[in-house]
Amino acid sequence: MTNQRRTDGSLRHLITLESLSRSEITQLLDQAQHFVRPLGAPAPTNRALRGVTIGNLFTEPSTRTRVSFELAGRRLGAEVINLEVQLSSRAKGESMLDTIHTLEALHFDVFVIRDSEPGVVATVAANVAPHVSVLSAGEAHLSHPTQGLLDALTVRQCKGERFDNLCIAIVGDLRHSRVARSAYEVFTALGVGELRLIAPHGLMPEAAEFPLGRRLSSPEEGLRDADVIMMLRLQKERMAAADIPDGADYFARFGLDLPRLRLAKPDAIVMHPQPMNRGIEIDTAVADGPQSVIRQQVRNGVAVRMAVLDAVARPRAAGPAGPR
Ligand code: NCD
Repeated sequence: MTNQRRTDGSLRHLITLESLSRSEITQLLDQAQHFVRPLGAPAPTNRALRGVTIGNLFTEPSTRTRVSFELAGRRLGAEVINLEVQLSSRAKGESMLDTIHTLEALHFDVFVIRDSEPGVVATVAANVAPHVSVLSAGEAHLSHPTQGLLDALTVRQCKGERFDNLCIAIVGDLRHSRVARSAYEVFTALGVGELRLIAPHGLMPEAAEFPLGRRLSSPEEGLRDADVIMMLRLQKERMAAADIPDGADYFARFGLDLPRLRLAKPDAIVMHPQPMNRGIEIDTAVADGPQSVIRQQVRNGVAVRMAVLDAVARPRAAGPAGPR
């Protein structure tokens, strides 16, 4: 596993949440909370990352994650450039590393990378100059650390600081979901009371990947008295055509509708990382209903990415005294 830290122990890269301690996660969440504003209030801004240049390199589609990383960087005073990697040099055969080294020569300090291949983010992190940081914005089916943090922040805002009395149910395509893997890492690090994994047989991951989760194939059983329900998108792009479930059938067996939601605690919250397939994973009445915190998750995404950028890049910033 790539070392994510500097020699003084501080966080340099964020590729996975696996090696983060509970207190490091709590610190990042506290810092993110500090950047959260009510809707309608001016967005928080400061100049903490003045002089820092951030490159967003996304080779897989993204709306929320890319835009929120971009806003997060700008709101901290950094310069942010979006690079269409699949259209430019990569397509011409230039490798990701060649692109990265070119950008390093242009004084980029932070790379935010989303890629469908396992290992690419870590390979870049292992090969950048010592002053450069690399952040994962989603790596294959394996991890999506800032999504895990924003999910934990959302749960904490709704349910309080203690996780040991919470039952969290993650429902759907766990097998192909990086969101589920990072959620597992962060919720277990925070000491969640009970974690239920609810999926049809073909979409259930190996037990070894989620050793502390209780595996269930019935939403009726799995949703009972849950405090938090996290729905997942069917990741069709990671399935063979023959394995893609029929939408109507899947909704009938695993979709979150109002009758199923009523099995959970009356104050249960409903989460979804988006993009949502309404009528397949989740009914519109639930997605837009009073227990849904899906938009709160999006809002928290910017705050969490500000906290992470601040943590890794502040040592590189120009500081109040002037440019580097
Ligand atoms: C997720 C992703 O890309 O991993 N989206 C996101 O970042 N909010 C989830 C998904 O695509 O289902």
